[in-house]
Amino acid sequence: MAILVTGGAGYIGSHTCIQLLKENYEVVVLDNLSNSSPKALQRIEEITGKTVMFYQADLLDRQAVERVFEENNITGVLHFAGLKAVGESVEKPLYYYHNNITGTLILCETMRSCGVKTLVFSSSATVYGTPERVPISEEAPTGAANPYGRTKLMIEEILRDLHQADSDWRIALLRYFNPIGADESGRIGEDPTGLPNNLMPFITQVAVGKRDKLMVFGDDYDTPDGTGIRDYIHVTDLAEGHLKALEKIAAETGVKTYNLGTGFGYSVLDIVHAFLEATGVQVPYEITDRRPGDIASCYADPSLAEKELGWRAKKTIRDMCCDAWRWQQHNPNGYQ
Ligand code: NAD
Ligand code: UD1
Repeated sequence: MAILVTGGAGYIGSHTCIQLLKENYEVVVLDNLSNSSPKALQRIEEITGKTVMFYQADLLDRQAVERVFEENNITGVLHFAGLKAVGESVEKPLYYYHNNITGTLILCETMRSCGVKTLVFSSSATVYGTPERVPISEEAPTGAANPYGRTKLMIEEILRDLHQADSDWRIALLRYFNPIGADESGRIGEDPTGLPNNLMPFITQVAVGKRDKLMVFGDDYDTPDGTGIRDYIHVTDLAEGHLKALEKIAAETGVKTYNLGTGFGYSVLDIVHAFLEATGVQVPYEITDRRPGDIASCYADPSLAEKELGWRAKKTIRDMCCDAWRWQQHNPNGYQ
């Protein structure tokens, strides 16, 4: 009995593989390595002392996906594989829709034909668009603002329709807030290609001397210090949320939607200060214009996940900064 992890070589998938192996699940990874390295899988094996069955394959390759199901006794799927860069999705919408949506359709069709109907999907807080109020609960209106976000919303709806048509499906839609940090071993972590889009990888690259300074995108938001507020969650806590979701849907059919966040908001400058306190490294920064499409404040109401999954994020901002820094210091060029 194995769990298939699509995108298991990527940032969140690799951390979730570690949790699965620690809990004695058998793990099969399918990843085309378009945004990841096979070294992540080697290191997962070194950290856990267990093996991962790896298929370097594309979800768009139906025969390859079918082979993975034929060759393994898969009982459930954690579906991380997808493209995730917002700016790129605006420039290449068809590429995003095809990869994320067609890939999910092929996965679900194969699952259905093999009688595997247990699926955890990586959704995002981006589905809430510009929230009317914070903290954001799962009932808040949705409305993504870019093609990447729309792939998440569309896939959520496809999966609800799938359950509507066949109530045997057991589906969890996990809406992540802002995952940061790394495994405490410092051996796996986030390895962005080129200029990082997200805040924490940018901070750690400045701290390690790869970049001069952080550009803070705007200090005129309606927030206490004027910089954007987000709900940063340690990737290990996020990974644990997937195991809890898997247990939940093993126990009951249906489609469950959960926010995975801490419930606390930190501004950009809060993170710069927390990084200094945690690591002793001062990150120089400059205030620049707002980034188009950014919102002022976004943080979760995570109470449903606590109530129904018995899950809550445990790690602190300090842990997140220390662990992100350990990964960056030990791997200044990521997996290269
Ligand atoms: P990632 O890019 O590190 O991992 C995604 C993995 O999927 C990569 O290893 C990539 O090679 C693989 N992949 C992409 N398309 C594929 C395809 N067609 N076939 C096979 N493999 C494919 O990203 P991540 O940060 O680990 O994110 C995982 C999931 O969580 C994504 O679906 C992402 O949209 C979602 N998510 C991420 C964040 C975040 O901030 N990181 C926030 C919300 C949601
Ligand atoms: C980004 C994505 C969003 C995705 C989320 C989690 C965009 C427009 N949005 O959002 O779809 O769901 O990540 O992966 O890319 N910041 C700086 N300087 C930087 C980088 C970021 O000041 O160099 C600020 C941002 O303005 C924001 C905060 O830091 O206020 C966090 O930014 P980021 O890490 O990119 O996450 P999100 O904006 O939440």
